[in-house]
Amino acid sequence: MSLAALEPRAFDQERAESFMTRIGQILDAGAVANMLSIGHQTGLLDVIAELPRTTSDDIAEKAGLSERYVREWLAVMVTGRIVHYDPAGRTYHLPDEHAACLTHAGALGNMAVYAQHLALMGKVEDQVLACFRTGSGLSYGDYPCFHEVMAEDSSQTVTAKLFETILPLAEGLIERLEAGIDVMDAGCARGHALIAMAERFPQSRFVGYDLCADAIDFANAAATAAGLRNIRFEARDLTGYDENERFDFVTSFDAVHDQKDPQALIEGLYGSLKPGGIYLMQDIGGSAKLENNVDFPMASLLYAVSCVHCTPVSLGQGGTGLGTMWGWETAEAMLRSAGFASVERHVLPHDPMNVWFVATRAARLSGVSANETIRV
Ligand SMILES: C[S@@+](CC[C@H](N)C(=O)[O-])C[C@H]1O[C@@H](n2cnc3c(N)ncnc32)[C@H](O)[C@@H]1O
Repeated sequence: MSLAALEPRAFDQERAESFMTRIGQILDAGAVANMLSIGHQTGLLDVIAELPRTTSDDIAEKAGLSERYVREWLAVMVTGRIVHYDPAGRTYHLPDEHAACLTHAGALGNMAVYAQHLALMGKVEDQVLACFRTGSGLSYGDYPCFHEVMAEDSSQTVTAKLFETILPLAEGLIERLEAGIDVMDAGCARGHALIAMAERFPQSRFVGYDLCADAIDFANAAATAAGLRNIRFEARDLTGYDENERFDFVTSFDAVHDQKDPQALIEGLYGSLKPGGIYLMQDIGGSAKLENNVDFPMASLLYAVSCVHCTPVSLGQGGTGLGTMWGWETAEAMLRSAGFASVERHVLPHDPMNVWFVATRAARLSGVSANETIRV
């Protein structure tokens, strides 16, 4: 061993200062992200996108908000390089290219929706701090507005692309839905995706289950308001779920990894399918290995959501706490272990954070007894 190896490594001042600059940038970006959440929730981002270059008075008036607060928010948007500012006329402008991913009308989807997850983290920080000390978990009721934010999130990744991109992943599924089949959505929350399918496929029958009664009440009210008679929602804990061969098509959208026992749920969903039935599962597309996730889209945000939401709600149900980044490898292994005859994995361009599995239960051959299935 050389003597140099025994000497303490010299402190690299330049490296330390450069890292400190990076931390400053992280804090700054976090502040901008929080203000994007406010801009989304107040409607300010949508309002400013529709206005020509204009003053804070004008923006506040159009948004129906207090000018003093709007001006301070605009200052964050300007220093965060979101909004352009012209000091001569004290006017503000959101470039079309920025509006494209920060507004409801944006052609690229609305990234400001995801900023709300950061705001939610702040709301439960004290409870999460306590969990760090005790190792205990939380319940969905601890998260104010969770289902509201989640519904906005999944209306972009799921409902918006359901008919054009997602359902066509399973060959022949649309034709079966048109002809009339039984469909169940596990962990449906406010039920947007299921309601959209019930509207589109009036011959099919739809049921949505979710643990949270408040989300189910919302879903039932939305279905009633839409005048739908082929759909129902039920508050139901899917722990130990066991319904035998009832459905032709089962879905879960981002609803397996934070369950008490994901493997048991997948097995229950498999059992609930009739032979030949299809399970469509969207879940987070990161890897089970941390080292593979360093460049995964918004990996730090996903691990943070895991830390403050997905892990505690699973632990809070007495569960395994797999976390948001349980990994597509884990999901795929669980699907195979549940008995699915074929498991296909897809990553969709509009939804790079998630993975989509199409898992098919083997069809029953004529002449095979009712309790037997065969693998194809
Ligand atoms: C991340 S959210 C996804 C909600 C919805 N699928 C969507 O895409 O908007 C997970 C959902 O699973 C539900 N959930 C969690 N544990 C459950 C359980 N044991 N039984 C039934 N639903 C559960 C939660 O209430 C929540 O609505």
